[in-house]
Amino acid sequence: MRTVIWNIDFKCNLLCKGCNAFEGNELFPKDRIDDFIDEMKYNNVKITSLTGGEPTLHPELPRMLKTLKEKGFITHIASNGTNKYMLEKIYPYLDAATISLDSHIPELHNEYRGRKIFDIVVESMKFLKPRVKVLTSNMLVTDFNYDKVGDYAEYVNEKVGIPVSMCFPDNTAYYYEKVPVQREHIYDAFKYAFDNYKEHKFGNTRTYYKQTFEWLENRETSSCRAGQEVFYADYRGNVYPCFYKTDKKLNNNRKWEIYDNKCNACFIQCFREPSIRKPLEQAKLITGIYLYNRRHHGQSE
Ligand SMILES: C[S@@+](CC[C@H](N)C(=O)[O-])C[C@H]1O[C@@H](n2cnc3c(N)ncnc32)[C@H](O)[C@@H]1O
Ligand code: SF4
Ligand code: SF4
Repeated sequence: MRTVIWNIDFKCNLLCKGCNAFEGNELFPKDRIDDFIDEMKYNNVKITSLTGGEPTLHPELPRMLKTLKEKGFITHIASNGTNKYMLEKIYPYLDAATISLDSHIPELHNEYRGRKIFDIVVESMKFLKPRVKVLTSNMLVTDFNYDKVGDYAEYVNEKVGIPVSMCFPDNTAYYYEKVPVQREHIYDAFKYAFDNYKEHKFGNTRTYYKQTFEWLENRETSSCRAGQEVFYADYRGNVYPCFYKTDKKLNNNRKWEIYDNKCNACFIQCFREPSIRKPLEQAKLITGIYLYNRRHHGQSE
């Protein structure tokens, strides 16, 4: 299903080591929100994942999500989980959410994120759990947490009651040196998830974990469908294949161009996981929403 990862702002309230969003103060313009949602609809987009920066700092977020739901989109948000006030306002318009939690050890999460936020993040997850259809935590795998995936999953699965997903920093990004992560360590974390897929509850597909460690071994993986099935929109309303292809603007006209994608440079979760062409496994998000609707309403959306 066609998906847009919509980066609605470049601002943040945290000081993560591997990100510079806190240096910015940019918001998707209020007066262009409706037009952009119509543009997505026109281009047959079915899923919108709101991200940033920290998307809960955009004051128009409730209206944005409400409009997206009214127009039939499946909605997802990626958040650092600190803005409980906003989460309480937006949950009625959310199908799914991913909240960042890099470690089950409070000091480690707080140190990476630059503020003492562990308790409020866990509280936000517990708040959202009964209120959205699919909720996962997300661990950014680095040298400080790669060897604790099992304990982390146990904590999140049992104490918070939700599945865990994982991603890792891209080594072409300028901030890479500030987030040390050796390829072998990413390998270990993702191989652990693959090998112990039944032991814990994971939020990514097993194929994604497998392809990630195979990619790290320079083995062949499924081709990336960024710019074909998954698109990246920035806080100015420009549409690109992904975060790293911002020289290829695709919405020069109302009808978006399709990117001739031969790239295999990264394994970023939000673009690569929907690239895996295994119908049933392809999107845990979609399967999760389908099962939720069947359980709660006796129907699929
Ligand atoms: C950029 S954040 C935006 C949403 C929100 N502010 C948050 O932190 O969850 C989306 C996801 O990317 C992860 N992330 C942060 N820095 C990253 C990096 N350098 N490379 C890849 N992913 C990163 C975050 O941990 C988070 O799970
Ligand atoms: S919370 Fe998210 S947007 Fe903010 S600095 Fe951290 S990774 Fe970047
Ligand atoms: S492989 Fe990574 S860098 Fe290349 S198009 Fe896909 S998401 Fe973008």
